[in-house]
Amino acid sequence: MSALLEIDQIGISFGGVKALLGVSLAVARGEVVALIGPNGAGKTTVFNCISGLYHPQQGRIVVDGREIQGLRPHRVAQLGIARTFQNIELFKHMSTVDNLLLGRHLHMRSGVLAGMALLGPYLPAAREELRHRTRVEEIIDFLDLQAVRGERVGNLPYGTQKVVELGRALAMEPRVLLLDEPAAGMNLEEKQDLRIWIQDIVALFGVAILLIEHDMQFVGDLAQRVVALNYGECIAAGTPAEVRAHPEVLKAYLGAEAVA
Ligand SMILES: Nc1ncnc2c1ncn2[C@@H]1O[C@H](COP(=O)(O)OP(=O)(O)O)[C@@H](O)[C@H]1O
Ligand SMILES: [Mg+2]
Repeated sequence: MSALLEIDQIGISFGGVKALLGVSLAVARGEVVALIGPNGAGKTTVFNCISGLYHPQQGRIVVDGREIQGLRPHRVAQLGIARTFQNIELFKHMSTVDNLLLGRHLHMRSGVLAGMALLGPYLPAAREELRHRTRVEEIIDFLDLQAVRGERVGNLPYGTQKVVELGRALAMEPRVLLLDEPAAGMNLEEKQDLRIWIQDIVALFGVAILLIEHDMQFVGDLAQRVVALNYGECIAAGTPAEVRAHPEVLKAYLGAEAVA
């Protein structure tokens, strides 16, 4: 199976603190791989390296055969890599629809302003704007966001904001989707919906998903493979059952609890 996303021995330090020490993993099209580990293990740092917010000092990140480490975030996004954030990053004063439209901004050749101007229905910019709106409406239907489409995102319940953020990432029509603790703070029913949406996203669009999540039930239901990190190193990899039972993983979580 050839990987769509391949991370090869990436390393990064902040000052004297080594956050990642040679982390490797791969995700194929149509696959969900989970990244687990105690708080501070380096999970979000891996996402920041992939999405171009951080530039790893060692190693390579390859998407569809192309090295992307060192590229800036907007270039990485244009290559089809979308993410959600551990602490939701949306425009809170804007509506659900407008947040999703901004997610599509990257695909707009003619730009937002040109698209929104009253240029008549036959000009390319107007036609493109219509295409973006159609795509956003499809995502709103898919994620059941019709009832909150016009609401200011900041007024929505936390769980719904997380769904809007997933929608914003989907609006970019990604090939690789990075989800940073998407189920955190959700109730059981919201988690059920999210699990089914993620399964549908993989089945319908064939994306590769890298998922950071603490809920091992959720991980076990979704991921074919799991990679565990601790102190910036891979300590185990395998099926959810194998990794959950791995002595190093048990030790890492016990250690984390003892400290907490
Ligand atoms: N920009 C940064 N500056 C300094 N330290 C950082 C920075 N980003 C991450 N770190 C450090 O890297 C380690 C891993 O953090 P993080 O990736 O957020 O962990 P996780 O997502 O697994 O909880 C932590 O020790 C954190 O303090
Ligand atoms: Mg994190």
